[in-house]
Amino acid sequence: MDERDDIPIPDSDPEDVIEELDSVPGEPVRLIPKSALQYHPRVADAPDLHIDDEVGVILGRSASFHSKYSEGGFGMIGAVCETSDDMLMSRFGMPVNLDLMSPHVLLVAGKRGSGKSYTLGTIAEELALAMERQEIQVAGVVIDTVDVFRQMMDDNQDQTELLKKWNLESRGFPVSVYIPRRTYVSLPDEVKKKSRLFPLAISPRELTSSDWGYVLEKGGQLSTTLDNLIGEVLDSVRKGYVLETGAKVKMKRDFSIKDMTRCIETNPRIVELYQLSTRTALIQRLRRADRLGVFHSGGTSAQDLAVGGQITIIDVAPLGSDAEAVLAILTNMLCRQVLTYRMAWTDEGTSAREELPPTWLIIDEAHTLVPRSGNTPAKDAIISYAKLGRRFGCSLVLCTQQPSAVSDDAISQADIIISHSLSHDNDIRALQQRAPAVMPEQFRDKVFISSLPRGVAIVFDQTTENKRGFIMQVRPRVSQHGGSDRLSGLFEAARLRVPELGEEISEFEEDEIDETLPEEEPTADLPEVPRPPLNLSHEDWKVLDDWMQKYVENLFAERMQEFRITEQASPRIEKEELLSEEPVEIEIDGTPTGIDEIDLNAFSIKEFSELQRPLLEKALTRKVLYSPMSHNFLFGSEVSHRETESIQSVGTDPIGLLRSVVGVLIAAGMKYVRTVEEEGFSFILLRKDGLRASVSAGVSVDAVSIPVVIVGDNQKAIVSIADKLRTAQGR
Ligand SMILES: Nc1ncnc2c1ncn2[C@@H]1O[C@H](COP(=O)(O)OP(=O)(O)O)[C@@H](O)[C@H]1O
Ligand SMILES: [Mg+2]
Repeated sequence: MDERDDIPIPDSDPEDVIEELDSVPGEPVRLIPKSALQYHPRVADAPDLHIDDEVGVILGRSASFHSKYSEGGFGMIGAVCETSDDMLMSRFGMPVNLDLMSPHVLLVAGKRGSGKSYTLGTIAEELALAMERQEIQVAGVVIDTVDVFRQMMDDNQDQTELLKKWNLESRGFPVSVYIPRRTYVSLPDEVKKKSRLFPLAISPRELTSSDWGYVLEKGGQLSTTLDNLIGEVLDSVRKGYVLETGAKVKMKRDFSIKDMTRCIETNPRIVELYQLSTRTALIQRLRRADRLGVFHSGGTSAQDLAVGGQITIIDVAPLGSDAEAVLAILTNMLCRQVLTYRMAWTDEGTSAREELPPTWLIIDEAHTLVPRSGNTPAKDAIISYAKLGRRFGCSLVLCTQQPSAVSDDAISQADIIISHSLSHDNDIRALQQRAPAVMPEQFRDKVFISSLPRGVAIVFDQTTENKRGFIMQVRPRVSQHGGSDRLSGLFEAARLRVPELGEEISEFEEDEIDETLPEEEPTADLPEVPRPPLNLSHEDWKVLDDWMQKYVENLFAERMQEFRITEQASPRIEKEELLSEEPVEIEIDGTPTGIDEIDLNAFSIKEFSELQRPLLEKALTRKVLYSPMSHNFLFGSEVSHRETESIQSVGTDPIGLLRSVVGVLIAAGMKYVRTVEEEGFSFILLRKDGLRASVSAGVSVDAVSIPVVIVGDNQKAIVSIADKLRTAQGR
């Protein structure tokens, strides 16, 4: 039955094959030599990958997309390092190329030290290289909590020999590095220039009162009184208030923490309503937040960070234990602003879209920002970005050491998963629930997953022709990963300077703050630059959550920028951007993913007594089409094409036939969703990208009939699967 059994296994070293392949005319891709790949697990099932003979494995790109844009727009992130019993099918040494042209959601998982950040760096390098080659024009923003990405500026001098084997040369990249403003201000100018540093600031106006709670209580919650007080303070500062003396404090669109503490001290209403101890407690917390040196009127905007053709590193390591709260706020702002501006356009043709290019947001250690349980200021924003970003050309790379601790709403959006070694059962399980249908048994083995060496990963591509997961060695970095230099020493010192809450902050120290930080620029009083009115398409608008719609309204109100929602289609939604399909939704409740794991014994086969074969076929097909559960699954969303196939046989074992029919669908890349029961009929539901299929079965005295209905918009794909079913039956 298994084709591979017929092929004799040559008893030779994979290296020999490399040479053979290397000499084939038509310039096939140069394979990475065995000596550059440290780990060569033998995998029994042959790999079924999307391959372009000239470049290698293509990840994240359908064959049809690739045939259009085969010249470039992808980056080599590693090479296949699994070996196969079947020499003809082996892809050992084949470079793996990640599509960078259309938007993706990537999940990079792995235990600590398994090579996640390094892999993110490789992706960032490939973005930078593809931009240099002018194949793509995007913005890359990397969020770094541990100070390992800034070093991309320098070349990787440690692995020159290895790089040669990969046909690569070490080099640095002109990245921009944003560090907390306070740390920035304290550095000498020549260091700033040499290390390409920029100050990172968050305007206090960006924070809601619950965001403040998160910052002031380090991820916890403020007491109700403090929470009320902060709400009142924000309100007063925004609207203005009257002092005891009768003097008026003007409303401020943009304000500083100092404006907030001043309000607590001098707004008579607040002084009257809140006890001194409450006011002092809040002032103390706010001053402590101020000492982090990131909250500053003006603030860094998404436009500063997401710049076309540029890789920006946001390095919050100097914030130490406060990094998390600040990052959450910052990520929230970034995700929301990028989405908003990517949606909008102006009549003049200077579209808002040019203000913010398609953005690749790369978030290291994301589980703290989008946790499965609990909330952070960034959670909703990241989930929205993951869900909607692709619509606006934006990509997301989430990295985590604990996939089980990351919100499923975010993970379920991933179209590509790169999993390094994992050791906890929960994490392995969380990952496997997201893995595609075809996965060699070996990859499910805990021992196998936990013993992947560092830099090696299992790769799953959920939406394209890469039907089965495979093992990849991540390529060596051309630029430096991590490492310490004089700056890291300074960062280390900076994170020690922020006092813990409860420690006295003397008036003297407060004066010191004023000296080290230059006077705040009076941004609020500057004349506003007129901004052209923006258009948002109704189609885009209606997919936004309520809170996101509100945010957009507020953002434009604050920036005094008019916007209108029009019935016009957004000019920015071009064919290419739409080409990347919606992600496959996979049910998470312990879904079996291979044919052997679908419990076919639980499948009830409807028995008819005297029905003739053509009638049996017709009756069953109608059942699949019109039984509510099957019907809703198939036609729940509009589809333009449908194929029905009915597999017949005389006197065979119905379960065996069912197994082979479902097996054909799974081999065609369809994923098992679940089995449903209705009025004595069972239906096996499967899906793949926009395609859905439902299968039932029935027997009469002399025949078995298995009706299959496949629906979707991609007629070609549907016909091809139906063909496969027919061929299988012919056999
Ligand atoms: N593909 C790789 N090739 C060579 N060295 C690697 C590779 N991946 C990781 N490393 C090394 O392993 C160490 C840990 O990698 P890192 O990516 O920082 O781990 P983490 O998974 O914790 O983010 C680093 O010092 C890095 O240089
Ligand atoms: Mg890391």
